[in-house]
Amino acid sequence: MNPAGKSYGESMAAIYDLIYPDSGEAKLAAEFVAGLCPEDGTVVELGIGTGRVATHIAGTGRKVYGIDSSPEMLAKLRERDPEGRITALEGDFSATTVIEDADVVLMAINTLGALLTQEAQVETVLRIGEQLRDGGAAVLETIGPGEMYRRTYPVTSAQALSADSMVIATAQADKASQTAVATYCVLGSGGLRIGQEAGRHIWPSELDLMAKLAGLRLEGRWSGWRREQPTGDHDRVISVYRKPGSAS
Ligand SMILES: C[S@@+](CC[C@H](N)C(=O)[O-])C[C@H]1O[C@@H](n2cnc3c(N)ncnc32)[C@H](O)[C@@H]1O
Repeated sequence: MNPAGKSYGESMAAIYDLIYPDSGEAKLAAEFVAGLCPEDGTVVELGIGTGRVATHIAGTGRKVYGIDSSPEMLAKLRERDPEGRITALEGDFSATTVIEDADVVLMAINTLGALLTQEAQVETVLRIGEQLRDGGAAVLETIGPGEMYRRTYPVTSAQALSADSMVIATAQADKASQTAVATYCVLGSGGLRIGQEAGRHIWPSELDLMAKLAGLRLEGRWSGWRREQPTGDHDRVISVYRKPGSAS
């Protein structure tokens, strides 16, 4: 729930693809994931949303499963995937096993941070470990320390989204509790639409500990999908964890 008491999808589904458009980033993310997965392998995306990345992964020929708690986000995914290449369930990823023996489990765009407590985040990382085959990889994109701790909050920005729409975004953060809330006001031919998302920032070392509890080992960490090296002040972190063993 966001501060207005709405679920993620109730608040964000109508504007999600405007705020997070299917840019080159989504394709790069899909290529990164495909590089960790055999050609006939299986990827599970937790918090698959509108399929921004998942549709590109499906385009590489990998089997894609996903889960999302929002029927509104999943309805958008079905519009984007009319052929039904992706199998998506409605449910809570902190409490659900989508499949066992996945080659890769993905959580993109700080989706783990959509859970607002450390306990729920740990539960989810444990579920990731259970869903991977031996030797499988978890790919977790989270917000970097720079984004949470460099900025002076609140931060407001205005940005064009298309020829006839723009967004004014405001972010507030409570650094002590590692939480932040972003409010988006989208103005355009559809009138004014407001969406809000809340998140809990996860320190990279905290994420490593969660992964360790799940029996996963850090394999590499980057600040972008082209494997850019982290600088310490970067805005996001891409961590790859490996489940020990090899597929039989
Ligand atoms: C930031 S969006 C990311 C969507 C997509 N992965 C992408 O990269 O564009 C986070 C998604 O996680 C979903 N979500 C949040 N908490 C969830 C939970 N506990 N179980 C399942 N889905 C959840 C939201 O509904 C939303 O679609």
